[in-house]
Amino acid sequence: MADTILEVRHLSKSFGDHQVLRDIDFTVRPGDVTSIIGASGSGKSTLLRCINLLETPSAGEIVFHGQDIGGVKAAAYRTKVGMVFQSFNLFNNMTVLQNCVVGQTKVLKRSKAEAHENAMKYLKKVGMDPYINARPRQLSGGQKQRVAIARALAMQPEVLLFDEPTSALDPEMVGEVLAVMRDLAAEGMTMLVVTHEMAFARDVSNHVVFMADGVICEEGEPKALFERPQQERTREFLSRFMGN
Ligand SMILES: Nc1ncnc2c1ncn2[C@@H]1O[C@H](COP(=O)(O)OP(=O)(O)O)[C@@H](O)[C@H]1O
Ligand SMILES: [Mg+2]
Repeated sequence: MADTILEVRHLSKSFGDHQVLRDIDFTVRPGDVTSIIGASGSGKSTLLRCINLLETPSAGEIVFHGQDIGGVKAAAYRTKVGMVFQSFNLFNNMTVLQNCVVGQTKVLKRSKAEAHENAMKYLKKVGMDPYINARPRQLSGGQKQRVAIARALAMQPEVLLFDEPTSALDPEMVGEVLAVMRDLAAEGMTMLVVTHEMAFARDVSNHVVFMADGVICEEGEPKALFERPQQERTREFLSRFMGN
């Protein structure tokens, strides 16, 4: 389909004889904010890692603008499909600014001047421009994650993948990162977000995927899925997470 960015088709993944993903199908269209929810061990990270070429699917395909990503070059592809990790994965030996410049100069071959200007634009956007000369170790978790988001945005990706971006944060820092993600969603950024933040999934995303034991157990519009879950497993999961 012309307006489809990513298509996951019949994706399966096994580690040895342990099947972690089974026959996963879904589609990402421009401006979609898809939340992936589900218990720990249900395969959410493995799914994102397959989409980011960090794992190789055992079967099925992932198609980006009509092309199977099995054959594409990882570095170039990852400029279009960026990823934000739970543990930030910043370069600890570089400053905040350098973290946001290096991918642009190395992979996108932008000039230093252009890369700086662009990095500043996104660091401002996440409120981290006062910290450009700081090293990651000098920052709080929330600040590190905002830098990681700016770094990903500086590549001007078409899709951003987030793997539990707030799970490693102290509770008082979750809000500042979610606020940045809400702004991105409101601006039309296409996002695929693995999260345990049910309020974010319900209020910010336009599509929610509930995974259990390596399969998509249920998916749909947030309002329907949260208010009228069709599957018993979804009901159980939600009642545990929403505390009712
Ligand atoms: N590299 C790996 N080798 C072996 N097993 C793995 C590997 N990565 C993940 N798994 C297993 O796959 C299952 C799903 O893991 P994961 O995708 O991390 O789930 P989630 O992100 O939903 O918690 C778990 O049982 C996990 O132990
Ligand atoms: Mg995970």
